[in-house]
Formats: sequence, C-alpha cells, structure tokens
Amino acid sequence: MSVTLAYIRPGDTVVDATCGTGQDTVALAHAVGDEGTVYAFDIQKTATLLTEARLLSHGISNVRLKMQSFVSMGEHVPENGAAAVVFNLGYLPRGDHSITTTADTTLKGLECALRIIRHGGIVTVVMYDGHEEGAEEKKAILEWAEKLDRSTYHVAYVSLINQKNDPPEIVWITKK
Ligand SMILES: C[S@@+](CC[C@H](N)C(=O)[O-])C[C@H]1O[C@@H](n2cnc3c(N)ncnc32)[C@H](O)[C@@H]1O
Repeated sequence: MSVTLAYIRPGDTVVDATCGTGQDTVALAHAVGDEGTVYAFDIQKTATLLTEARLLSHGISNVRLKMQSFVSMGEHVPENGAAAVVFNLGYLPRGDHSITTTADTTLKGLECALRIIRHGGIVTVVMYDGHEEGAEEKKAILEWAEKLDRSTYHVAYVSLINQKNDPPEIVWITKK
C-alpha cells in the first residue's frame, strides 16, 4: 500500500475496487483526507457491512460504498478522474471462499481502471495464486499487462521472494 499512497494527494478521488473488510479503504480514506473521496466496491453484502463498520469505528465519512462489481467504477468516476485504483483480488478473508474475483471480470475491471486513472496515477493489483481461480487470474493479468502500450503505461511486477505460504504478488501500472 505504501507505494500506492505515494501517488495520492489530499483532495484526490481514488477507488478501492474490492473493499472486503475495509482495511485498504481506511488507508485510502486517510490518504485523500476530508476533501477527497474514496469509491469502494464489493459484490458481497458481508463485505460492505464489514467495511461500513470499520469506517464508522474510524469516524470516516469520505467513502462512497457501493455493493456493485468494480466493472461499474466508470459510472462513478470520470475518465482521468482518479489518482489510484486498488484491486486486492481473491476471496473475503474468513468469508465464503467460493466467492472470488475471476480472470474475466478482473480484466474488464482493469480496463475500466485504466480509463479512469489520471496521467501520473496508479493501478495496484494484489494477486494470490495459492488457489485455483487465483492462479488462472494471475496468468491472465500478466499476459494482459505485458501487452499494455509502453508509450502510455509503465508496468512493474513484484514477487515477495523471501515469504512463505503463497505470498501475494503485485502488479503496478502507472499512466504516463
Ligand atoms: C481479498 S478480498 C479484499 C480484501 C480487502 N482489500 C481488505 O482490505 O479486506 C477480495 C474481495 O473481492 C470481492 N469481489 C469479488 N469479485 C468482485 C467484483 N467483481 N467486484 C467487486 N468486488 C469483488 C470479494 O467479495 C472479496 O470481498
């Protein structure tokens, strides 16, 4: 998250594409401050309730929580309107493991994210390949990301090589 936060200034609009328990949402809400806005998406009621409770406990009021797929982010944020979009893929921690992000939908969501990030903005994708859908999803994302137009985007791929138990891998895409 610290790399992502370096791209965010107070007053910015940012997107948490998969809010889950709301941990990332809180970090983003603090980064944009009272003048900024976080749009937070999740398809699960459980996740939006968990996030809502976490936001309340932190006294945070600059988050617009949507129980919708992240593919709808373009309905809320205009083209070039976001400083950052964060995808933390997979399933809800301690939740239903059968409800997970999928390669097809995630690629659609990433295309939406590229449209709404501003020049100088960042899309962060945290991937987990320790489960079947996650492994397929990671493969699809890497194949897609390495073909992105190099005159518009920089793409970095990070592996946490000293960690155990299928640690996450991260893709950062910045728009020039
Ligand atoms: C790993 S969790 C996110 C964890 C979260 N960042 C946190 O801080 O707790 C992944 C979440 O993605 C959600 N999800 C799956 N498909 C989605 C979609 N198409 N749009 C939005 N959220 C989705 C799941 O419901 C799950 O809560």
